[in-house]
Amino acid sequence: MESENILEAKQVSVAFRIDGVLQTAVHHINLEVRRNEVLAIVGESGSGKSTFATAVMGLHNPNQTQITGSILLDGEEVIGKTGDSMASIRGSKVGMIFQNPLTALNPLMKIGQQIKEMLAVH
Ligand SMILES: Nc1ncnc2c1ncn2[C@@H]1O[C@H](COP(=O)(O)OP(=O)(O)OP(=O)(O)O)[C@@H](O)[C@H]1O
Ligand SMILES: [Mg+2]
Repeated sequence: MESENILEAKQVSVAFRIDGVLQTAVHHINLEVRRNEVLAIVGESGSGKSTFATAVMGLHNPNQTQITGSILLDGEEVIGKTGDSMASIRGSKVGMIFQNPLTALNPLMKIGQQIKEMLAVH
């Protein structure tokens, strides 16, 4: 069954382990995005927009990052998901256009290969 909210974040905090100490970069984010709704998050540089989005994508390194709270993507909890289970959600339910797109493509791979990879996987 499709859930009404495509994205639901509850009390999401993200902390990075720096020199063995957890430093919180994102504090208690709560938001909901309904199906077909567009949400823009605006904030000063360093306020945690990318850190939050990276948590939604499940792309933080679990050894260096602690994510708490709940992130539901189409009703499915993504916090704690790793490896293959997250990879199947990424690209089918959620995608990310990274900052600085000029460095996002791998210069060692042909462009067709990189574009076709996502289509082949999904
Ligand atoms: N991997 C990391 N390890 C440690 N600290 C990090 C890491 N990634 C981000 N930070 C810190 O987390 C905070 C939030 O950074 P983030 O990149 O999420 O901000 P932003 O809102 O996306 O900024 P910008 O508008 O410049 O893109 C900053 O203090 C940043 O230095
Ligand atoms: Mg950013």
